[in-house]
Amino acid sequence: MRFLPRLLLAAALAIATLLGGRLLLEGRTDDLAPRAEGDPSLTLDTFLHVQQLRKKRLRAFCSRSAKVAVLPASHEERARVLSRVRVSTKLNFLYCQVPAIGIEGWQWLLEKLEEKENVTVPVPLPYPQQHNLQTQLNKFNQTMIEAMMGSYTKVLFVRDPFQRLISSYMQGMGSSPSFSSFVQDVLDVGQYNASLESKPLVSLCHPCLIRYDYVIMFGFLRQELGHLLHRAGLPKDIHLPEFTDTQVRWTYKWLSEQLFSELSLKQKKQLSHFYRWDLSAFQFSNSLLSDLLSTPETW
Ligand SMILES: *[C@@H]1O[C@H](CO)[C@@H](O)[C@H](O)[C@H]1NC(C)=O
Ligand SMILES: *[C@@H]1O[C@H](CO)[C@@H](O)[C@H](O)[C@H]1NC(C)=O
Ligand SMILES: *[C@@H]1O[C@H](CO)[C@@H](O)[C@H](O)[C@H]1NC(C)=O
Repeated sequence: MRFLPRLLLAAALAIATLLGGRLLLEGRTDDLAPRAEGDPSLTLDTFLHVQQLRKKRLRAFCSRSAKVAVLPASHEERARVLSRVRVSTKLNFLYCQVPAIGIEGWQWLLEKLEEKENVTVPVPLPYPQQHNLQTQLNKFNQTMIEAMMGSYTKVLFVRDPFQRLISSYMQGMGSSPSFSSFVQDVLDVGQYNASLESKPLVSLCHPCLIRYDYVIMFGFLRQELGHLLHRAGLPKDIHLPEFTDTQVRWTYKWLSEQLFSELSLKQKKQLSHFYRWDLSAFQFSNSLLSDLLSTPETW
């Protein structure tokens, strides 16, 4: 099944998205109606254990790589490094916003929570709470940035880089005639000049600088976010939107295999090198790229 037509892919994805999209819309209409918060299939203990494992892996990555680990003193450099980091000053949340990673449901939820007057976060802050509409972390001054990075609940969303690429391809970023030429374009542009859609998460979210409290994995958003919000002290009766990632996950598994087989061995190897940081910092159990990462210790 080489060169699977994009049309066919689009159809497969459309079905999955339609299923998910319909659910998302349903979620929107009944607003924040009371509903059980977590998913019983993921216990709180398991969730916390998994978080420990993910953060341990991330710390190990940071200790052996030379990634930005302190807040740059220059304003311009700070603005560049923190350009993807968003905050909710009302809810004391900080998260990294990256395209093609499936966090629309999360953003919608934050907006809804911010609109609710009753929602307050019980965490004491070392400074007067701000009620600021600004959501870009790099628009605040250094003192505020440091205070927010120290006290907010910090959330990092991650997704297998190969699936992120497929998602960008399907959304029609670039006008490549085939997936293989799309990938070649990404490789040719290089990591430094890469677009937001293809840049590694480590380069966009700086997990060695921002000590994220939670690392949330695409495919498990609903279960994981249920526990996260509860832990962050938000009311139990929050209605979570229907995240589409769990349904889409199976479509993407199939898509990944098809599209991966269209790439040459050289492209596959170059791609795993391109994403070596993400593959090493996070555990993507089924990533097709992981197997090709021959020498993870060389940067
Ligand atoms: C706040 O919550 C109380 C009960 O918890 C409810 O009666 C009241 O209507 C809520 N107010 C707003 C503005 O949502
Ligand atoms: C930083 O911003 C806060 C809030 O706007 C303000 O109170 C503080 O004086 C500012 N600090 C500096 C060093 O500019
Ligand atoms: C990034 O793009 C600019 C402008 O196209 C180019 O001059 C530069 O060499 C590129 N940088 C890298 C590291 O490829």
